[in-house]
Amino acid sequence: MKVGILTGGGDCPGLNAVIRAAVRKGIFHYSDEFVGFTEGWRGVLDNKTMKLDLAAVAGILPRGGTILRTSRTNPSKHADGLDRCVDVLKKNGVEALIAIGGDDTMSVAARLHEMQVKIVGVPKTIDNDLSGTDFCFGFDTAVNIATEAIDRVHTTAEAHNRVMVVEVMGRDSGWIAIYSGISGGADVILLPERPFDIDEVAEQLKRRHARGRYFSIVVAAEGARFKSDVDPAHGAPVVTEMQKDEFGHVRLGGIGNVLAREIERRTGFETRAVVLGHLQRGGSPTAFDRMLATRYGTGAIDAVHRGESGCMVALHGTDIVTIPIAEAIGKTRLVGDDLIEVALGLHEMLPKKEEVA
Ligand code: F6P
Repeated sequence: MKVGILTGGGDCPGLNAVIRAAVRKGIFHYSDEFVGFTEGWRGVLDNKTMKLDLAAVAGILPRGGTILRTSRTNPSKHADGLDRCVDVLKKNGVEALIAIGGDDTMSVAARLHEMQVKIVGVPKTIDNDLSGTDFCFGFDTAVNIATEAIDRVHTTAEAHNRVMVVEVMGRDSGWIAIYSGISGGADVILLPERPFDIDEVAEQLKRRHARGRYFSIVVAAEGARFKSDVDPAHGAPVVTEMQKDEFGHVRLGGIGNVLAREIERRTGFETRAVVLGHLQRGGSPTAFDRMLATRYGTGAIDAVHRGESGCMVALHGTDIVTIPIAEAIGKTRLVGDDLIEVALGLHEMLPKKEEVA
């Protein structure tokens, strides 16, 4: 069978491990032939391909990034984009496509499935926010990078009697923030799931310092939101760039510095911010992510040969299963109350505002 593979959206450690696993199992066990579409959906749209044989995937297991490169191209935003994709796939003799990406990539995969393209998705995002799977590969690596950074920041915060704010990625969900924050022993963790009151954050830090602690660590997801009267349910995020990409996302980032300024102003404690940014997406995947990515890669090519389409491989407990793509993109998977309770349980409760008044 001739199988196409592409990687779309933000890169993430483990992409190469998925490609390698799918290609090796496909060639060794199913006598498949592969074609790589480069730069995400742009490669399908513009017929940009690369050879994907055993030599192409040799030595890529531990490498970050993606040998296929990636982009945030949305074919639906280009004239006849989806039809062009179908034509290009036909021209290349592609009988099934493996699309590795997050919710944006999966949304295009779902459209192409409706147009009779045989397609299997693989869930990728360091944000870990795709529904229908327990984990996306890349998340574990990002958490480990962020946790190590928090550990490092701890020692310098302690040395200087400072508050250090660590801004981590997480556009719509705070998975990296809650995992790295709890693992790194942060004193305050701010997530997109729960808009925060900056006065309460300051109060929390003042109480800690009143107990004799002389430094603090605040971990904030880039998508964490200030409580806002304008939109009480969602709060107000800090946005770097209002211009939207082809999938309708504004560019977040910058909350770390805003928080540092507001915390220092309210507490008088010297405060600094560290923005981890794309460091969290670069470099070699952890062993956990290599395993998960490899299982997803072999799971995807197996699904192709079972004749499945319009589905995404997923991790349920310890099993690799397939679920309808529609289930994965229906809604963002948010951090649950159970984990938030773990984080809150480690810190003293603030008196409610009415009790203070
Ligand atoms: O979707 C993954 C992600 O890493 C988000 O956490 C972040 O907001 C975004 O990608 C950054 O995208 P870019 O690399 O295009 O700046």
